[in-house]
Amino acid sequence: AQEKVKVNIVEDNDAPIVSKHIYGHFAEHLGRCIYEGLYVGEENKIIPNTEGVRNDIIEALKELDIPNLRWPGGCFADTYHWKDGVGPKEDRPTIVNRWWGGTTEDNSFGTHNFLNLCEVLDAEPYLSANVGSGTVQELIDWVQYTNHDGISPMADWRRENGREEPWKVKYWGVGNETWGCGGNMTAEYYADIYRQYATFMPGWSGETEVYRIASGASEDDYHWTETLMKNVPHELMEAVALHDYAVFDWNDKGPSVNFDEEIYFKTMEQALNMEEYVTKHIEIMDKYDPEGNVDLFVDEWGGWYDAEPEVKNGVLFQQNTIRDVMIAGTVLNTFNNHAKRVKMANLAQMVNVLQAVILTDEEKMIKTPTYHVMHMYKVHHDAKLLPSTIEENAEFRGLPVLSVSASKDEEEKVHISVVNIDPEKDMEVEMDVSALGLKDVEGSILTSDKLQDHNSFDNPEKVTPKEFKGAKLKKGKITLTIPAHSLIVLQGS
Ligand code: AHR
Repeated sequence: AQEKVKVNIVEDNDAPIVSKHIYGHFAEHLGRCIYEGLYVGEENKIIPNTEGVRNDIIEALKELDIPNLRWPGGCFADTYHWKDGVGPKEDRPTIVNRWWGGTTEDNSFGTHNFLNLCEVLDAEPYLSANVGSGTVQELIDWVQYTNHDGISPMADWRRENGREEPWKVKYWGVGNETWGCGGNMTAEYYADIYRQYATFMPGWSGETEVYRIASGASEDDYHWTETLMKNVPHELMEAVALHDYAVFDWNDKGPSVNFDEEIYFKTMEQALNMEEYVTKHIEIMDKYDPEGNVDLFVDEWGGWYDAEPEVKNGVLFQQNTIRDVMIAGTVLNTFNNHAKRVKMANLAQMVNVLQAVILTDEEKMIKTPTYHVMHMYKVHHDAKLLPSTIEENAEFRGLPVLSVSASKDEEEKVHISVVNIDPEKDMEVEMDVSALGLKDVEGSILTSDKLQDHNSFDNPEKVTPKEFKGAKLKKGKITLTIPAHSLIVLQGS
């Protein structure tokens, strides 16, 4: 069975740039994300590495042009004391990861490893600072350590530890989920605490000033955003965060691979809620900040399922299927379409956790289907949004089936990302692009026979993008049939 949906794409001089930072990532000390994932240790002779970080992961992330990386949490961040992770490794105290499995960590991956990695990747570091169990002084010291190039106790200590130049870290999170694992605070209390922390943070980096991100709401907690926007002077806050996971039942999240259509529907229902949450949080921000001085950062998002039971140390380790392609494709389209206020987003989490782009098993490494979405959507990095509208969308059990976003890059190439979430029905699409003056169209497609299909260590290429030749351009209209549960990126020139 097939349906037909019409899409209209136009050009608007006032449309925003789709910030490349929407395509950001997140690495937390959690399960096998850092240890046994990204970081295998400087002494490792079996897995090739740079300062202990796997070279195969570095190469894969470079191919994605990851624009930023958030670290060290998540909930872990509000237990993390950065000073325990610098200086001679043999002198570092251990830390018990109380939120994630109670494992004892040796603090061998610390500030230098993380910031040097970001340099290698040419990605902006985003440090998520400890407010829940830390102090204002501890945070200012971290800013001074990473950013000050003069003489100061922390800058001198950095030099002693082998790093002359400051890294000049721009992005700083002031606590994480302070309504929950970051301190169980009320919005009003946190707004006051935030003001206190934010006051002492700037002034260490010369021209590169710090960009302070307030710990934000979860899902539809509009009171949280409203309180921050109302109670915090905007000159103290460059962005407000939002967290939203596609999880339909926190007590029974369902399997990452062997899910049925009912679970698929519930997951997509949650994933598509992002559109409503972002829209409503932005409405509140518009009310208090009509000039748009404060940005919205969705600094945790993604699908969250039950962990794969057989994976050793696999806290929150999950596989990644075509369902994740549907989540990533639709949510990224939402962010693109709201690029005026959404300036950063961070997929949770990069390696071996939640909706990871990379999975590892000892020396093996694979790219997940979500990795390929991120790769295909790279074309939107810093391109100008082309507003799009969908006329009478088709429905899958009440959910809108088609999702679209479009942009034009500096070379005047147009890219249109289209997702059909229907598990079974192909869809005919007619796009009116007459305003764009296109002469040629080509594309690539990411799909597979079953929604549950995924890449495994035995079959790492099962889900990979293929050329898509089915789009035709005639008289200002692109027509194509997008197969069920597929994602297509078209390029028009
Ligand atoms: O990403 C996993 C966890 O989800 C993070 O640590 C926390 O911030 C959120 O609740």
